[in-house]
Amino acid sequence: MNKLQLIGPFTQLLPMTGLPLKGALKDEQLPIIENAGMLVSEGKIVKVGIFDELRSDEVKIYHIEGAHVCLPGFVDSHTHICFGGTRARDYAYRNAGKTYLEIAKAGGGIWDTVTQTRKASQNELVEGILSRSQKHLKNGITTIEVKSGYGLSVKEELKMLRAIKLANEKSAVNLIPTCLAAHMKPKDWNHQKEYLEEIIATLFPIIKNENLAQRVDAFVEESAFSPDEIKPYFQKAKEMGFDITVHADQFTTGGSQVAVDFGAVSADHLEASTQKEIELLTKSNTIATALPGASIGLGCAYTPARRILDAGGALSIASDHNPGSAPMGDLLTQASILGTFEKLSNIEVLSGITFRAAAALRLTDRGKLEAGAVADFVVFPTDNYQEITYHQGQLKPSEVWKKGAPIH
Ligand code: NIG
Ligand code: FE
Repeated sequence: MNKLQLIGPFTQLLPMTGLPLKGALKDEQLPIIENAGMLVSEGKIVKVGIFDELRSDEVKIYHIEGAHVCLPGFVDSHTHICFGGTRARDYAYRNAGKTYLEIAKAGGGIWDTVTQTRKASQNELVEGILSRSQKHLKNGITTIEVKSGYGLSVKEELKMLRAIKLANEKSAVNLIPTCLAAHMKPKDWNHQKEYLEEIIATLFPIIKNENLAQRVDAFVEESAFSPDEIKPYFQKAKEMGFDITVHADQFTTGGSQVAVDFGAVSADHLEASTQKEIELLTKSNTIATALPGASIGLGCAYTPARRILDAGGALSIASDHNPGSAPMGDLLTQASILGTFEKLSNIEVLSGITFRAAAALRLTDRGKLEAGAVADFVVFPTDNYQEITYHQGQLKPSEVWKKGAPIH
C-alpha cells in the first residue's frame, strides 16, 4: 500500500476549482486556501485543505519550508516540439523586413523544417522532444500537446508520431500527440487533393491501429488549406472518432467556421478573428486558444483574448513552441505578456494554462487541485500568487510534482 502523503504547508494554494469553463473572471473569484496542504496517494490527490487539519498519525509529511504558492501543473495545449533543425535565418530575414513569400523563396518557412525533420532519425527526434519537454517541466508544465506536421508524407508523419509516443514513454511529462498531416501542401506532391486522400486512406488507419494519436489538426489558411479543401480530411477524421482541432484565423478568417462546423475541441491562433468569428466560437463548445508565442515570434497582433472572454468564450493559452513562428517556448512568460497586452486578470491567465487548457485537450483529470485529480502541481517561492504573472516568467518554480512525485 502506498502510504498517504501530506504535502505542505503552502502559504497559498490555488485549487482552480469551482470556476466556469467559459467567460471573463475577476481576481476576487479566485479561490485561495491559506496554510494549505494536500493529501496524495498513488499519484492522485486524495484531499486538499488546511494543512493542520489534514495531519494525522497515518500520513507521512513532506514539509515545504518557507513561503510558497501551489498551483495545478500547467498544461500547454498546443506545441510543435517535435522537429529537426532551426529557423534562425527566417527570424533574421523577418526582422530585416523580408516578406513571407521572400522568405519561402529563399528556402525558409515550414517547408524548411519539413526538409530538416525528414533528415533527422526517429531517435534524434525523440532526443529533441525530451530535451524541450524537460525544460518545460522545470518551468511547471506537466502536460504538453505535441503535433506532427513536419513530415508531410505517410512515412515521415509516422516517424514523428512514433517519436512522440517513444518520448512520452521515456518522459515524466505527459505528451499528448496530435496528427497535423495537413500543415501545408507538400511541395513534392503535384496534386494536393491526392496527398490528402493518401493521408485519409493510409495514415489515419495506421494511427488508429498503433494508437499514435486521438486528435487531428489542420492549418486552415490561404497559404495552406482552404475550408473547402480541408473538409474531406476532417470529415474522415471525425467519422473515425478522432477529436478535431484547427489552426484557425491566423492571418485570414475561415478556419473558425470550419472548427465550429466540425465540432472541434479547439480553434487555435485567432489573431485575425473579427467579432463575427468571436461570436461564432463563443456560442459553440469549441475552446479558443491564444498563442502569444507566435505573436511575439512574428511581431504580429495578439489573439483578441479580452474580447473572447467578454463575449463569454473559453480561453486556453498555449505556447505554440515551434522552430518557425514561436521559437521561445516559455508558456508562463508568454501568458503573462498576453495578460498585459489584452488586459487579462491573473485568474484569466492562470485558468488559461490550467483547467481551461486541460479542457482544450479534453482532459478532465488535471488543471485543478481536487480529490481524484492527478497529483501534478507546481510550487513557487513566494507568499503571494500575484507575484507569478508579475515577474512575467522570471519567477521560477521551486518544485514541480508529477503524479505525486517531485521532479529533480
Ligand atoms: O502554429 N501556423 C502554422 N503553423 C505553426 C508554425 C509552424 C512553423 O512556422 O514552422 C504555428 O504557428
Ligand atoms: Fe501551431
